[in-house]
Amino acid sequence: MKILLTGGAGYIGSHTYLALMGSGHVPVIFDDFSNSSPKVLERLERISGQAVVCERGSVADSALVQGLMKRHAIEAVVHFAGFKAVGESVAQPLKYFDNNLVGMTRLLQAMDATACRTLVFSSSATVYGDPASVPITESFPRSHTNPYGHTKLVIEDMLSALQKSDPAWKVAVLRYFNPVGAHPSGLIGEDPRGIPNNLMPFVAQVAVGKRPVLNVFGNDYPTPDGTGVRDYIHVQDLAQGHVAALQTLAAKGESFTVNLGTGQGYSVLDVVRAFEQASGRQVPVQFASRREGDVAQCYASTERASELLGWRAQLGLDAMCSDSWRWQSANPDGYA
Ligand code: WQD
Repeated sequence: MKILLTGGAGYIGSHTYLALMGSGHVPVIFDDFSNSSPKVLERLERISGQAVVCERGSVADSALVQGLMKRHAIEAVVHFAGFKAVGESVAQPLKYFDNNLVGMTRLLQAMDATACRTLVFSSSATVYGDPASVPITESFPRSHTNPYGHTKLVIEDMLSALQKSDPAWKVAVLRYFNPVGAHPSGLIGEDPRGIPNNLMPFVAQVAVGKRPVLNVFGNDYPTPDGTGVRDYIHVQDLAQGHVAALQTLAAKGESFTVNLGTGQGYSVLDVVRAFEQASGRQVPVQFASRREGDVAQCYASTERASELLGWRAQLGLDAMCSDSWRWQSANPDGYA
């Protein structure tokens, strides 16, 4: 299928691009490069051995999107384009409501206008808020603790309203847990701008010597070692989950929502130890106070994804750390 990847030059998008190519699809990248580097495109060409088709612009530009959907005869859209920094969303909620919600609305209008009604949406485990228990199933109640998570929750509701209004819409909502790692070539990976919000890129930058120490946000949680527990999933597994979701949409023609996680929770200190093992470098830590909005534990039930998509994550924490290290050590300044 001809597939439009909005935000396809980003971290998840670029890895999904390669997974789709590897599965015989024809992906087209659409990106405004507000939170990604055009350098990714040449890296993707080096890895795939094929020219990358990329259009530059914003999903909010409905006329532009309609034109490229027709020009490329797009059959399905995978929507990655959106801002995703929790802390930034608290400081600048309007930036998030505009970019994530208005952008989604304009994209859906452009898809409807060109009769392309198959969508994979990049949602997040953040819609579960602070879960009452773990592992988390797709039927758990949703809530939000920050504007970023609120936009994901609102978009999920927009999509269910759209499907009720017109059953022609086929939508896969994928709730990512904690994406980490990099393509095994070390040529593409996570390249956060400024100080990393997320754990793994921060740990990698300490290991490579860019930062002196990791602040561990709280070691008094009700968890085995007192630090936060999350479901880290290798970005390569996550990318394959998108391929499986598209194939399921095409084969079954029904919309669905699934968790994309491993079902295994690891603490902050587990990740630090695994990264030291993988990199052969020390990662000094210091314990700091809890971060506003953090929860103690969050990891997925993977049964529904396995039954519905025939997909399970294959890679463990060691691969996540060694692939992340290969990317970081080969690109200490990311794509700069
Ligand atoms: C993981 C653990 C922190 C940094 C968020 C979003 C989610 C998704 C992934 C977008 C926690 C601890 C972290 C640090 C630390 N976002 N930590 N020191 O918060 O689970 O999820 O990012 O795709 O939607 O909610 O991920 O990597 O920020 O934190 O101790 O410098 O690491 O307290 O326990 P999180 P994270």
